[in-house]
Amino acid sequence: MNTHAGVQVFGIPTDHQFTSQDDLIAIFLDSLSPANTLHNGDIIVITSKVVAKCEGRVVTEDQDRESAIRSETKRVVATKVHDRGVTTIVETHTGLILAAAGVDASNTEPGTIVLLPVDSDHSARRIREQIEERAGVSLGVIITDTLGRAWRLGVTDHAIGAAGVTVLDDLTGEPDAFDRTLEMTIVAVADEIAAASELVRPKDSLTPFAIVRGLGHLVTEEHGPGARAIIRPTDEDLFSLGTAEAIALGKERAITDRRTTRNFTHEMVPPGVVLTAIEAAVTAPAPHHTTPWRFLVLHFHEPQHHQKRIALLDAMAATWQRDLQAEGKSQDEVSKRIARGDILRTAPCVVLPFLDLAAGAHTYPEVGGRNNSERDMFLVAGGAAVENLLISISAQGYGGAWISSTLFCPDTVRNHLGLGSSFLPLGAVAIGLSESSPSPRSPKNPVSFLID
Ligand SMILES: Cc1cc2nc3c(=O)[nH]c(=O)nc-3n(C[C@H](O)[C@H](O)[C@H](O)COP(=O)(O)O)c2cc1C
Repeated sequence: MNTHAGVQVFGIPTDHQFTSQDDLIAIFLDSLSPANTLHNGDIIVITSKVVAKCEGRVVTEDQDRESAIRSETKRVVATKVHDRGVTTIVETHTGLILAAAGVDASNTEPGTIVLLPVDSDHSARRIREQIEERAGVSLGVIITDTLGRAWRLGVTDHAIGAAGVTVLDDLTGEPDAFDRTLEMTIVAVADEIAAASELVRPKDSLTPFAIVRGLGHLVTEEHGPGARAIIRPTDEDLFSLGTAEAIALGKERAITDRRTTRNFTHEMVPPGVVLTAIEAAVTAPAPHHTTPWRFLVLHFHEPQHHQKRIALLDAMAATWQRDLQAEGKSQDEVSKRIARGDILRTAPCVVLPFLDLAAGAHTYPEVGGRNNSERDMFLVAGGAAVENLLISISAQGYGGAWISSTLFCPDTVRNHLGLGSSFLPLGAVAIGLSESSPSPRSPKNPVSFLID
C-alpha cells in the first residue's frame, strides 16, 4: 500500500431523482462542477441506490416487501425478533450477507422499495467503461451499500461492486514497523474507500457520488475480480449462521447425525469426552425419579483397563462359544459370531452400561407379571441413557457402536466383574474417532411408522 500519498474525498451532489429512464453516466458527468473535473487514477464511488434505480430495480407497493426479500434471498443466515419487527439477515444470490437482502424503503418514492442491482460488479464494469469512454480518463469504480456489522453498532458503507480497483490489499509476508513478517494481513481497501466516501455523502440521497483522489496505485488497468472477491467463502466462515439458527441446526442434527461407527483410528478418546457423554446419558428419563444407570469405562491406553477388558471379553467369548455350540452351530459359525465382537477388543475405548434395579425398582408379590414389567420399564430407561450417550459421543466428534454382547451373557459379566444380580448389562459401547465419514441416512417417512 502506498502510504505517503494524501487522499482527498469529494462528494458530488445532485438533486436529480433517478429512474429507469435515466442515463446515470450523463447525470454523473453533468453533476461535476468545473472545479471537480476527473483525473486519471480517481476512484468514483456510487451508491447502489441510484445504480439500482437506473437499472429499474424498483418495486411498487403491490409487490410486498417480504416477497421481494424472499426473491432476493439464497439462504436465511439469521433472524432476530425485536420491538420494531423482525430483522432477517440473508445471503443474496450474489453472495452478499446483509439485512433484508438489501431491499430498502429509504430515499425512494413513497410506496416503492429499491432492490440491489442484480450484479453490482457487472454494473461497476459497465459504468467504468462508459465514464472512461466519455470522459477520456482511466479510473476505478466502486458501488456501495450501507451495511451493519456483526459485532459493532452503527452502519457504514461497504463495496458491493467494483471495477478497476484493487479490492483486497494483501500485505501478508511484508515486514511490519519492527521488521516482523505480517501474517494473514489482508486489508479490505475497497470497503475502506466506500466507508470514506460516506463521510461526504450525507444520507439525504442528494449526494449519490463521490470522487476519491490520491489512491491511483489501487486503480488497475483490468476490471479485476470485483467486490465479489471480498466475500468470505462460506466454508471458511466461522459465523455462517446466526446464533439461534446454529443452535437450532445443532439440536436437529445432533440426533440424526449419530451413526454406528465400526472402524476407528488408533487415536485415544480423552476421558473428558466419555464423562461428558455419561453426563448426557444420565439425563435420560427414568421411572420413579430414579437414576439407575452405572457405567464401566475401559480405555485402551490405560494398561489396567486394557487387561480388565481383555479378561472380560475372553470370559464372555467362552460363554458365547458354549451357548452357540449348544444351539448346534458349527465351529466356523461360532468363530464368525464371536469375531463380530472383536471391535470391543480393539476400540480405543469401551463403555459398559448397566442398569441397577436396586437403585429404585419396586418389587411386587409374585402374582401376575408385574415384576417383569417393572424390570422392562427400567430396561427401557437404560436404552434411553445409552442413546443419550451415543448422541453425545457423536456430537463431540467421536464415533460409537452399541454392541449387544453383554446382553447375551449377563451372568458371566456380573460374575466376572463382581456385580450383584440387580445389575442388568445393557451391551457395550465401542468409542473412537471414525476412520471415515458415515454414509448418508436413507430418508424415512415418519407416516409409515404410524399404527392405524
Ligand atoms: C441394543 C442394540 C444392540 C446392537 N448390537 C449390535 C452389535 O452387536 N453389532 C453391531 O455391529 N451393531 C449393533 N447395533 C447397532 C445397529 O446395528 C445399528 O444401530 C443399526 O445398524 C442402525 O445404524 P445406525 O446406528 O447408524 O443408525 C446394536 C444396536 C442396538 C440398539
